[in-house]
Amino acid sequence: MPTFETVFGKPRFDWLADHPDAASLFQQAMIALSQGANEAVAEACDFGAFSQIVDVGGGHGQLLSEILKRHPHLSGILFDLPAGVEAARANAASFPPQTSFVAGNFFNAVPAGADVYIMKKVIHDWNDEQAVRILRNCREVMKPHGRVLIAETIIPPGNERNTIKLIDANMLVVTGGVERTESEFSALLAAAGLRLERVISTARAISVLEASRA
Ligand SMILES: C[S@@+](CC[C@H](N)C(=O)[O-])C[C@H]1O[C@@H](n2cnc3c(N)ncnc32)[C@H](O)[C@@H]1O
Repeated sequence: MPTFETVFGKPRFDWLADHPDAASLFQQAMIALSQGANEAVAEACDFGAFSQIVDVGGGHGQLLSEILKRHPHLSGILFDLPAGVEAARANAASFPPQTSFVAGNFFNAVPAGADVYIMKKVIHDWNDEQAVRILRNCREVMKPHGRVLIAETIIPPGNERNTIKLIDANMLVVTGGVERTESEFSALLAAAGLRLERVISTARAISVLEASRA
């Protein structure tokens, strides 16, 4: 069990749902940590062939906004737990007009029928079994030609010092999650019935793993 749960009595996201002030602080921290990364991911990926995107665990929605601003032909769904979606919806006027907001639990289901399911800094929150469940839920409802995009900082090969290795320890303690190498992501995708097509570098220390149905 992650140490957070031992100390606070609940998994981190359940605890945040009971503590709106802390949840708001958490989303502000996510925004601060994402400075530049949302733009970098939006710039690096080609969404030209797609029509609808779901930002799974999209939180504050800044990644989705950056993508939709650059691609007015796309419609987008910001999908997160109810409290997260309500906070974003309260700010709906600041989102591109083609944004909609859907609340739910990605372990149960994600909105069906889109052709891109993107998740940034979501998969690293979870252990392999949980991560496969999220990815499989996307795979099951995406269009046949659809793509799953995982935006994460990938652990580089070798035994050099790297901040992501410290964050790995943080994930273990807080959510029971894990930072992964490219081959670990590839195995995770395969277990969810997906195939890693390519890894897209961005201008920041975050990459996008693009996967299709296996
Ligand atoms: C680390 S944050 C990342 C947020 C955003 N994607 C970003 O890059 O800043 C993880 C997000 O997953 C959401 N989340 C956690 N558990 C969830 C669940 N069971 N269903 C849907 N969203 C969930 C959280 O509310 C949070 O917004």
